[in-house]
Amino acid sequence: MAEALRIGIAGLGTVGASVARVLRDKAGELTRQCGRPITVTAVSARDRAKDRGIDLADIAWLDNPVDLARSNAIDVFVELVGGDEGAAREAVKAALEAGRHVVTANKALLAKHGVALAEIAEKKGVLLNYEAAVAGGIPVIKTMREAMAGNSVSRVFGILNGTCNYILTRMEAEGLTFEACLKDAQRLGYAEADPTFDIEGNDTAHKLSILTSLAFGTKIAADSIYLEGISNITQADIRAAADLGYRIKLLGVAQRTESGIEQRVHPTMVPTASVIAQVHGVTNAVAIETDILGELLLSGPGAGGNATASAVVGDIADIAKSRPGFQHGPVFGRPAKELKPYKKAQMRAHAGGYFIRLTVHDRVGVFAAVARRMADNGISLESIVQQAAGTNGDDKKTVILVTHETTEAAVRKAVDNITKDGHLVDKPQVIRIERAG
Ligand code: HSE
Repeated sequence: MAEALRIGIAGLGTVGASVARVLRDKAGELTRQCGRPITVTAVSARDRAKDRGIDLADIAWLDNPVDLARSNAIDVFVELVGGDEGAAREAVKAALEAGRHVVTANKALLAKHGVALAEIAEKKGVLLNYEAAVAGGIPVIKTMREAMAGNSVSRVFGILNGTCNYILTRMEAEGLTFEACLKDAQRLGYAEADPTFDIEGNDTAHKLSILTSLAFGTKIAADSIYLEGISNITQADIRAAADLGYRIKLLGVAQRTESGIEQRVHPTMVPTASVIAQVHGVTNAVAIETDILGELLLSGPGAGGNATASAVVGDIADIAKSRPGFQHGPVFGRPAKELKPYKKAQMRAHAGGYFIRLTVHDRVGVFAAVARRMADNGISLESIVQQAAGTNGDDKKTVILVTHETTEAAVRKAVDNITKDGHLVDKPQVIRIERAG
């Protein structure tokens, strides 16, 4: 039997404790699968006294994750600290430079420093594995990097944040408020330490930026993502979407266009009959469209201790199976130094259908004026509905428009014209419609 692979875990929160538990409970099976035992030899976390339901008695405890990263008592540094700077970044960099393999679930760190860290890993000939960083337990990184070699991707999109999907699902199914659903997501351990990262779309953007790099062979460009979260989505939008045959999902979309690569995160209407519309609760899904394979959709648990631990343990097992001298594939599918610069497509050029909900003064001619502004901007309407009298009281009415394919620039201009015309009582709501099978 080969020598044990020695693991150091930094961060013993929901995910870290689950990883330690799985490595202990599944030790026999993992040894058979990997041909060698996997042993946690050292950990680092803030609170030594906290009861995590695991016995840490025989495991070395280091207060500083950077010391753990450099320790000779480990072969693999598992980073579950979180954050794009500070201890997480320093420790991962230190571990790679010291020739340790790294496994991380830290999407924020990879979105910001992934390419630089990949360069160190590739230079040192060690693995930097990050399956858990995108879509929780779904093996999308391995799928895109390994199983889809040779495919040219045209679009990758998905539900990449369990918290948002959980909130939208419960708002729709149970008519609950946004706040009540968010509280439950936090209680269940899905949300980030700062949940605004979930609900304002940053977490989805971090994950999308990694998928974009894998899909298109470009440098990670998380700062170039168009971003809108779900905090403005109301029951009125959810009900109107349902009436029109749509469901609202927070999607991350990366798409090749004539002018560059579009990266966008926003609430999206998808047809209720589409497969992605059936993805409920904390479940994530990633759809990948390619020239050879066609369309692939992966779905599974996107957040929570065990789902994320499953991906982390899979990454550790890959390292346990690797052998010295084995040439590891590059971290982002192509050598980090050969990733192309990211060419951004302007959001104003985005083409697609739009849902527009307007709360207007109930006055003669408003309906016609709204339709006129759409026509003036070259927007063809699929439907325009004024909700029945009494919906909003006597002096205001709701008008709901669905457009045929048009551009972001045209919609922005038309909505701006309507606002300036003085017809609106409230802020307009604009939600993009995404083509989905
Ligand atoms: N907060 C994240 C989510 C956790 O809700 O999906 C997994 O990255």
